[in-house]
Amino acid sequence: MGSAGTLGLLMALAAALSPESQPSEGSGTVQPLQSSAQGQWYTDLPQNLRLEDGKLVLQAVYDPAARAIRDQPYTSARVRTFGKYAVAPSQAHPTIKVEARIKVPAGLGLWPAFWMLPADNATAACSGCGRHGVWAASGEIDILEAANDATKALGTLHYGGPWPLNSYTSNNYSLPGGASLAGDFHTFGLEWDAKQMRWYVDGQLFATQYSGNGTRSGWFSLGADATSLEAQPLLSDAPFSQRFYIILNLSLGGEATEFTKINGVGIAPAQLNATLATPQAMLVDWVRVWGYSP
Ligand SMILES: *[C@@H]1O[C@H](CO)[C@@H](O)[C@H](O)[C@H]1NC(C)=O
Ligand SMILES: *[C@@H]1O[C@H](CO)[C@@H](O)[C@H](O)[C@H]1NC(C)=O
Ligand SMILES: *[C@@H]1O[C@H](CO)[C@@H](O)[C@H](O)[C@H]1NC(C)=O
Ligand SMILES: *[C@@H]1O[C@H](CO)[C@@H](O)[C@H](O)[C@H]1NC(C)=O
Ligand SMILES: *[C@@H]1O[C@H](CO)[C@@H](O)[C@H](O)[C@H]1NC(C)=O
Repeated sequence: MGSAGTLGLLMALAAALSPESQPSEGSGTVQPLQSSAQGQWYTDLPQNLRLEDGKLVLQAVYDPAARAIRDQPYTSARVRTFGKYAVAPSQAHPTIKVEARIKVPAGLGLWPAFWMLPADNATAACSGCGRHGVWAASGEIDILEAANDATKALGTLHYGGPWPLNSYTSNNYSLPGGASLAGDFHTFGLEWDAKQMRWYVDGQLFATQYSGNGTRSGWFSLGADATSLEAQPLLSDAPFSQRFYIILNLSLGGEATEFTKINGVGIAPAQLNATLATPQAMLVDWVRVWGYSP
């Protein structure tokens, strides 16, 4: 910790998490697994989303009935604190920590995530919109993503210009011996202050990223109106100078899903269907946000 101070619990999030049961793509349009995109349809049915033994269960299920609804043969779940809770470093709490204790699943095509999107200016139609425009000019913070066998926990920032002028920087962490993270619960955490973010697994620091202070030498935003990669970054700590809300989701990769590709090759529906035995669950013990007082 750079800035010493007293640590206080700002929020324990169980009550602030709401299910999202829209189609799975950010645009709101449905892209069936057959055509490439993610392979799930999110629901809030108990088969996909429930509390069990004190844990939040997000579960991917092979569900032929789901195909009849939206041509997606799998259902899963996504929850978020949108409209209920959002946070950023502040004068009262210059450093905050967002963490969750999670047991991720492992299996070809699985893509569990614990992440954040900007809260201001987000709408149902534009969940990545923030004060600096559409994704990724307003930023995305990925505290944890794991793919397939879950041998790596990825921590990533997306920022820069409006898509396709977006940039990102990613780091990853492996358990000793390269064991799968799926074997047990682990605590995934992010410490965030105006100039710096730090990623942790079980208290082990594995990545640090910095504000570019209005240059490209760290995170930056080109703002809502940028039309070229050469645009001048905003002279601030944007896009991570605004409030973000928290999301937990369990997705399935498709043929065009970069994240679950193996050696550059996406996961075809038949392959997913042949390999992935469902149900597969992402278990969340708790989500907490802490603030350090100066
Ligand atoms: C699930 O989370 C990851 C987080 O990085 C996100 O990129 C992905 O689009 C999400 N999938 C869906 C369908 O919400
Ligand atoms: C954000 O919302 C405010 C108020 O609705 C609006 O004035 C502003 O233009 C929006 N900014 C962006 C980048 O969409
Ligand atoms: C993990 O980090 C290493 C070292 O930076 C990098 O070479 C590798 O591509 C990363 N893996 C993933 C899946 O991002
Ligand atoms: C941004 O500013 C902070 C604090 O003034 C400084 O510590 C950091 O090195 C700067 N980062 C860059 C990339 O210049
Ligand atoms: C997928 O797997 C299930 C269960 O093994 C099977 O019933 C179904 O026919 C398979 N094929 C497709 C295309 O969903």
